[in-house]
Amino acid sequence: MQIAELPINPRAVTWNRRVEAVLNRVVRGKDRVLGRLGLGGRVADYDDEHYQFVGGANDEMRRKHYDKSLRLLWKAEAAAPWSTFHDLGAAEQALREMADLATSPAEQQVRARLTSAEFKAELDRHYTPRQKQAIVNVLSAIGHGEAYAWLVSASNLRDVRSSGAKAAVTMQVLEEAKHFVVMRELVAAFGVPVPRQSAWEYLLLEGVLAADGLEKFYGMNVLVETIALSIFGALAHLPGLEILRLFHLDESRHTALPMNYLKEFPLTKRQQRGFFARRRRLRMALPTLPLILLLEEDLAILGIDAFEFAGSVLRKVAHLSERAGFYLPRPAPEMLARFNGLFNLYCRLTRPGHLPRDFMDAETSKDRVVAKTEREIFASEVTAEARPRAAAAVTA
Ligand SMILES: [Fe+2]
Ligand SMILES: [Fe+2]
Repeated sequence: MQIAELPINPRAVTWNRRVEAVLNRVVRGKDRVLGRLGLGGRVADYDDEHYQFVGGANDEMRRKHYDKSLRLLWKAEAAAPWSTFHDLGAAEQALREMADLATSPAEQQVRARLTSAEFKAELDRHYTPRQKQAIVNVLSAIGHGEAYAWLVSASNLRDVRSSGAKAAVTMQVLEEAKHFVVMRELVAAFGVPVPRQSAWEYLLLEGVLAADGLEKFYGMNVLVETIALSIFGALAHLPGLEILRLFHLDESRHTALPMNYLKEFPLTKRQQRGFFARRRRLRMALPTLPLILLLEEDLAILGIDAFEFAGSVLRKVAHLSERAGFYLPRPAPEMLARFNGLFNLYCRLTRPGHLPRDFMDAETSKDRVVAKTEREIFASEVTAEARPRAAAAVTA
């Protein structure tokens, strides 16, 4: 190819290169020394000499999370046509229009774009005002959690090593941002007051955001996201809430992120099993129980037993924590048995005629699509047979 080169001053070029080479040695040398002394050093964990982040390429992580997230990326304009979102690209719009042409008039009616007013009228037709308030109370609890998930995942970008893991976490940041803004419109469509965060939720989420480094993975991806996906799972079958299946799919991927990451960059034995780390994890999780008690009435209005819900959340959290290496003060079967004993005690005091049972075996995810996704993630979770103490606590 013919390109007309411009004249330059070779001496000036040489000098500029020499100056840069000297400065490069000084800047990097200083940062290297400060880094070794633990006094700072280079801020970015970036390895420009290999054109990747410290920790390597980690393409496995990229494939499992970044590529998969993009494959499963959903747009609010298509999933919630009644909302104010306008996020479909021209090609996606054209595809939708072609699909509309290929469907029968009856199918077109089902697929018809609901306006905001029509969506609200549909909600009014399906739900009593108290049921609408119950849905908003439960969903907004998760909505506030989405705000924190957005912040926590953004801060995790600095904590994970390798280009693949950073790409994976970046997709989580994007998805949490989408969850927050879309959930806000979904909750607003119910037209009832939106409650503030409860004190328990405030304590739980502030604790997660303030946690050290990868402990945020435990607090957010294992603990909070399991609560979120369990709520989505319990509500996705209700009319007007089908979009929660998509939230559920994203959250399932997010709960698997710590396990996939820690396979490549395992926690040290001390980080996994240290006395203080294990206690901190239990303390971080404790506000969850009074939070679920606070939601007991709203969950009951929606036909969900708060203790069945809590049991199913705890079983999943115990399973994911141990698989990722975030050990709790006692082994999962023992912890679950103790909590089951507490739940039964509370029920004996507050529910006349309560018969002891194993709440840890409960499953509140009713939707078929959701149940299939959960089967894949929790395939080898702690079973009742592996929990002799839980069974003993029930019969006690
Ligand atoms: Fe989320
Ligand atoms: Fe998430």
